[in-house]
Amino acid sequence: ARLVVLVSGSGTNLQALLDAVAERGADAYGAEIVAVGADRDSITGLERAERAGVPTFVCRLRDHSTRAEWDRALTEAVAAHRPDLVVSAGFMKIVGPEFLARFGGRFINTHPALLPSFPGAHGVRDALAHGVKVTGCTVHFVDDGVDTGPIIAQGVVEVGEADHEDGGAALHERIKQVERRLLVDAVGRLARGGYRIEGRRVHIP
Ligand code: GRF
Repeated sequence: ARLVVLVSGSGTNLQALLDAVAERGADAYGAEIVAVGADRDSITGLERAERAGVPTFVCRLRDHSTRAEWDRALTEAVAAHRPDLVVSAGFMKIVGPEFLARFGGRFINTHPALLPSFPGAHGVRDALAHGVKVTGCTVHFVDDGVDTGPIIAQGVVEVGEADHEDGGAALHERIKQVERRLLVDAVGRLARGGYRIEGRRVHIP
């Protein structure tokens, strides 16, 4: 399968996918990363792609007069690489209707909380503030909501007393350790085995 990965930051989830392809080989893993896209420049995520020899593109909201124009530009930039699967790995923008019309059903995201709890841009902080004893991460299909699409996989992370003292930094790092494995496994299974989405249920043979 041809993957396009979208990033906005450090790209450690992207790095886990790059490493999986490099270590197992695209055939055995079932996927190759054909491009990496971002919504901003000079982020480590783009450097990781460049180091791996993967083509990159940047689609900045401010370069477009309207959000709809940005949505169209992002859709075309991704479509140019003919992806079978698009992966949002820390991509911090909500895509628009054109993108979803084109890639809905084959666009997945990873979120650092156990959805449907704590959607949105502050899942780790919100879970901590709520006083949860466990949290975790979720890989899911993207639909027209925010972090609301059908769930593919989840991983659990315990919350400790010390996690309330550093604003969630250590907790997010522990979540990311689980998240990288969850994402690599989910992408490989989707790419190799195909899948079916029935309502809210995702069936991977
Ligand atoms: C991940 O935890 C992702 O779930 C969240 O932002 C983080 C991105 O980390 N949306 P990285 O850029 O993959 O290191």
